[in-house]
Amino acid sequence: MAVAGTGQSNENWSGRAAFILAAVGSAVGLGNLVRFPYVAGDSGGGAFIFVYLATILFIGVPVLIAEFMIGRRGGGSAIAAVSRLARTEGRTRAWVIFPILGILASFLIVSYYSVLAGWILHFIQVFAVDIGGRFVAEGPVALTAPAFEGQSDEEIGGILPKLLSQPGRMIVLHALFMAATVFILSRGVKSGIEAAANVMMPIFFVLLLGLTTFSLVTGEAMQALTFLFTPDFSQLTGSTLLRAVGQAFFSLSLGAAMMLTYGTYLSRETDIKSSSQIVATADTAVALIAGLALFPIVFASPVLSADVMGDNDPGLGLLFVTVPRAFHLMPFGSLFGLAFFVMALFAALTSAIALLETSVSWADGDYDVPPAQKARRRVIGAICLGGLAFLIGIGHALSQVPQTVAATFFNDWSPLDAIPLFQGMNFLDAIDALATTVLQPFVGMITALFAGWAISTSAAKEELRFDNDSTFALWQTLVRWVAPIAVGLVLLYGAIIVPL
Ligand code: PFF
Repeated sequence: MAVAGTGQSNENWSGRAAFILAAVGSAVGLGNLVRFPYVAGDSGGGAFIFVYLATILFIGVPVLIAEFMIGRRGGGSAIAAVSRLARTEGRTRAWVIFPILGILASFLIVSYYSVLAGWILHFIQVFAVDIGGRFVAEGPVALTAPAFEGQSDEEIGGILPKLLSQPGRMIVLHALFMAATVFILSRGVKSGIEAAANVMMPIFFVLLLGLTTFSLVTGEAMQALTFLFTPDFSQLTGSTLLRAVGQAFFSLSLGAAMMLTYGTYLSRETDIKSSSQIVATADTAVALIAGLALFPIVFASPVLSADVMGDNDPGLGLLFVTVPRAFHLMPFGSLFGLAFFVMALFAALTSAIALLETSVSWADGDYDVPPAQKARRRVIGAICLGGLAFLIGIGHALSQVPQTVAATFFNDWSPLDAIPLFQGMNFLDAIDALATTVLQPFVGMITALFAGWAISTSAAKEELRFDNDSTFALWQTLVRWVAPIAVGLVLLYGAIIVPL
């Protein structure tokens, strides 16, 4: 598209459906499949979900609308978009600090996201070998078997620890995943990002619905439904609210210049409000449905439910330890276990594409060059930035290796111990905390302020085309006041109060 008055030659989405699918691909990721179920579980189930829905509605959707609006109106990369808008609105150029930090956040996130996606690749292989071997020996009846039949619970729980003791393997899998992300990005917006979402997202949804049905039929459906949907308001605390805001930002890919970048490829005709509602609804539905896919099979085993509901924070262990153990206890566990990890891979890949795209779009340039030259810049940008994220990711992989000399540096990352937020954290955890506890809320807060205060009411109205003034006024109040205050509190609480 030629952005008005800039001579930009940015590629555009081919249509509204393609844009929505790509944005849903960006939003739906490990945050929905892993982070949401355990944050919900850890914060009182139904009570958390009630607050989460309100947060999505009153903070998530307005900020999502703001990001798409800024991206489309500004054009170019996230940085160029904000810089151009600041100039046309007669504001200080200092506003560009937020897209710069947003790009930094998504770049740092993709460096470890790819390592975790490598673990998913490992589990796909382990499940595929399990089911494939049995299929050769026994024929189709093998598909009905539980996963890893004949192995002990300890052996299955030991798959992840064993992988963590093999840094070389972790790095190779991380390289494979990053290479796939770079390959897709190098093909551009339409033939890369859009094509990947077009293929992967429909398969993702089919797998998710299939798995959820399986889980509800074979697992403890009632217990899971009661847990997820019975609000116990006595569990509600201030920190529940702040965790809900943090989770909403993580899940909707806000505050990391991601949706802003996707907005730069939006055509004038696309309606931002309704598209944002669809993206937020799909993302939230996937989080809830993922809960319905996971909890019934976990609750089917008293040992596993005690693990998840216990005081020890399950974190990634939910996906990589509890889930394989659960599929070990279910008929058809092999088949559905494999399907589960393929689904997780697609979710992770479409999110990683969006995470790396923010910086690639910046490198690809805000320059007025012929399309062929722009395409070449994009390939080089994707390879260089993907390569750099890969190198940082090696540190993340090593930080997970227990007690080896090579890993010691990344494992107990003492250089940052002086800062309370990072105390006792390994390299991966420290980068995660920097990106999602500090940068994301900070950028999210400034994004809302920029949309609410720096962009003139007339420009925002023209861009958003609300049906009536009162809905517009509601949106403006939410981005001017409610979102910045709520997200500012998340920043204060997560980055300062809790660590101290
Ligand atoms: N929204 C995706 C997820 O939930 O996994 C990707 C993502 C975006 C993760 C932004 C983290 C983040 F800060």
